[in-house]
Amino acid sequence: MPTAAPAECVVLVPVDGAIEPGCEDALRELERRGYPVWRYRGYSAVDAARNQMASDALGAGFAELMWIDSDVVFEPDDVDRLRAHAHPFTCGLYPKKGPREFACEFMPGTPAVRFGTRGGLVEVRYCGFGFTHVRKEVLVAVHHKLQLPVCNRRFGTPLVPFFQPLVVGEPSGPWSLSEDYAFCERARQCGFPVVADTSIRLWHVGAYRYGWEDAGSPLVRIPDYTFRVSDAPGEPRPVAPSAPVPTTGFTEDWFTYNVPVWERVLAPLVGQPVRALEVGVFEGRSTVWLLENVLTHSDASLTWIDTFGGGAEHAETDLSGLEARFRANTGRFGDKVSGHVGRSQDVLRGMSGEQFDLIYLDGSHEAPDVLADAVLAWSLLAPGGILGFDDYGWRVFPEPERCPALAVDAFLGVMRGRFETLERGYQIWVRKLA
Ligand SMILES: C[S@@+](CC[C@H](N)C(=O)[O-])C[C@H]1O[C@@H](n2cnc3c(N)ncnc32)[C@H](O)[C@@H]1O
Repeated sequence: MPTAAPAECVVLVPVDGAIEPGCEDALRELERRGYPVWRYRGYSAVDAARNQMASDALGAGFAELMWIDSDVVFEPDDVDRLRAHAHPFTCGLYPKKGPREFACEFMPGTPAVRFGTRGGLVEVRYCGFGFTHVRKEVLVAVHHKLQLPVCNRRFGTPLVPFFQPLVVGEPSGPWSLSEDYAFCERARQCGFPVVADTSIRLWHVGAYRYGWEDAGSPLVRIPDYTFRVSDAPGEPRPVAPSAPVPTTGFTEDWFTYNVPVWERVLAPLVGQPVRALEVGVFEGRSTVWLLENVLTHSDASLTWIDTFGGGAEHAETDLSGLEARFRANTGRFGDKVSGHVGRSQDVLRGMSGEQFDLIYLDGSHEAPDVLADAVLAWSLLAPGGILGFDDYGWRVFPEPERCPALAVDAFLGVMRGRFETLERGYQIWVRKLA
């Protein structure tokens, strides 16, 4: 069962025409159980409808959004089932009405997916929004990390274009994504995988032409059904916690969307004998980028600090093998890279006397820790050195003292006049004046 009350989760139903009777019956049952159900009519474009609905729901303070299409028939208990999963972005799968396909894009290389009594949680690349549960944290991350603007204020109906269709580059050529797939792409860019519960059975209701085969043979319904996606060998890829932990490579990407800012801000350091300090390295994605793109001089070096225990936001993340994965990912850079396992607030205190030209703070996101990191790091930053804060726009926890911005603002307020601002967006970068 979900831990939060039904009143925390708004059910959003974009309606174009009529609501299928089986869907309406289930929606009324949800209302009887205490779920607020919003039926939105009057939008000719579904992306516009979804943008408005999501923005209105966040504005009204809901923590969870359950999307249900008016032509999808479902069991009300399956809403509770999706909400109970620890994953913030989950869905049920259903077939398209015309072609013999699912209304989703499976992960590349998925050979087959099991549905029904032996179904389970499977990561998909994109899903239709016919039966999809999204927690607020996903929308907040998409809004802030991707710097989506607040639009339409002048009409009195502000919205964030979460569902704006977009084009992605594919090996086979550009792919124009519809509004629901575009949202999935944005969520993935922010580190939120799309997880399907294939034990949920949904019915996509539409027109159907009956032929003589329907008269002559019964249609068999199968409670344990395997859908063949491709001929690739192996089993479908399960999601954590049962997924094997990789020993090398990356399972998360909280970094790539920062690259344009880093390329600009760090351009003067490229190829120089820079001494860099990175607080909070996780699997080393940002570390490796720095080593490959900035710290290319043979005398450049990088010192890291991490507990490898994760922050409060990683409570649901499987961190086993994290330190080993970081070391495997950075091992090829040899003694250019060295570091300390421990809390940065403790380790930094013991580093007095060292000097760095570049410091990047991306460890604990709790404001008291960020403030301590900033104060301690400042004394280690050489005059003219560059200091970066990640996640200034991060709002995963509603309490400001659990997010970096409060600390960054306090620190920069205190240091006014002693730095030059290089970047002020989702991240903040400053240069210490000589
Ligand atoms: C968001 S991840 C870093 C991501 C990395 N910079 C990247 O872009 O790929 C935050 C890291 O900070 C570490 N961390 C959290 N609290 C910490 C603390 N008090 N001291 C040191 N490391 C901490 C976590 O273990 C985690 O690996």
